[in-house]
Amino acid sequence: MTTETENKKRSHAELMELMGKTLSEYIEAPVSEEAVRRIIDEKLAELPVQKLEVTLPDGVTTEVESPHKQLTDVIELVKQGHNNILLVGPAGTGKTTIASDLAKALNLEFGFLSLSAGVTEAHLFGRILPQADGAWAYQSTRFVDVYENGGVFLLDEVDAADPNLMVSINAAIANGHLSNVVNGKIHQRHPNCILIAAANTYGLGADAQYVGRNPLDASTLDRFVLSTTFVDYDTDLEKRLAQGVEGAESLLDWVWAIRSKISEYRLRRIASTRVVVNGLLALRAERSLNYIKTMFLQSWSKDEVAKVESL
Ligand SMILES: Nc1ncnc2c1ncn2[C@@H]1O[C@H](COP(=O)(O)OP(=O)(O)OP(=O)(O)O)[C@@H](O)[C@H]1O
Ligand SMILES: [Mg+2]
Repeated sequence: MTTETENKKRSHAELMELMGKTLSEYIEAPVSEEAVRRIIDEKLAELPVQKLEVTLPDGVTTEVESPHKQLTDVIELVKQGHNNILLVGPAGTGKTTIASDLAKALNLEFGFLSLSAGVTEAHLFGRILPQADGAWAYQSTRFVDVYENGGVFLLDEVDAADPNLMVSINAAIANGHLSNVVNGKIHQRHPNCILIAAANTYGLGADAQYVGRNPLDASTLDRFVLSTTFVDYDTDLEKRLAQGVEGAESLLDWVWAIRSKISEYRLRRIASTRVVVNGLLALRAERSLNYIKTMFLQSWSKDEVAKVESL
């Protein structure tokens, strides 16, 4: 599997020719092709990635538009042979999007389930339901389907899950087969089944920011040893999303400044990529930055607002 950026490929030959010609005219001496190539490669490496191109082992090439910078880290883990990956990071950094983009990059089906309170084993393993003819039949789930037939399945918000639910799928995560108590079957794991778990905490329980989170069982965490990635905000991605929107530069500066104040004062607040995405919607609808600030800060206490007031 190889990855390369569209940027690097884009008009390489055209740029080489144009730069070589311009430079040699300017300095009135020939410029070697190698020198031009070096300058162009350095500059292209500085550009944010617009599109990620992935060539799969079977020769199929896929493309992901506007990827998070850490999508390549996750693809790298898959290349190493990991099929259980844990993404940890603050709210709204892009974990869910990375999982669905991974499916696109690998040309696989995508399924997901948010494991918030109330989600039970039936949501993962299926249930026996009455049919129109009065008989009872097993109804499968997307999870079982991806497990058996391949795909990327996101177990979202795992640290909000009932710890017993996670324990119940531990065997499925680690052992290559799923013993389904609902239909009594053993489902074999497909070689192309990739399970991604996403969480806001490292599975050690609630912290000041994420008060409703449960500690994960040590055996669950062990499934992700050496395949856990911390997902941070991708400011280059935010810049790309903001391209061409009037007033976006000030919005970005403000969001990034708020983020650093939140971290400096350890405020229990989040300024996620969602603020950028929704702020851009407001700017496109010709709302002012002041309007966005007021909306964003409306639930903050006076004390919290005072800490970021200078922004
Ligand atoms: N690669 C991307 N391209 C475009 N938008 C993105 C991308 N990544 C994230 N976003 C946007 O940023 C926001 C947060 O992304 P996402 O839901 O993936 O984050 P998350 O880390 O899963 O958040 P949470 O922890 O709250 O579940 C969404 O509005 C999403 O549309
Ligand atoms: Mg998410």
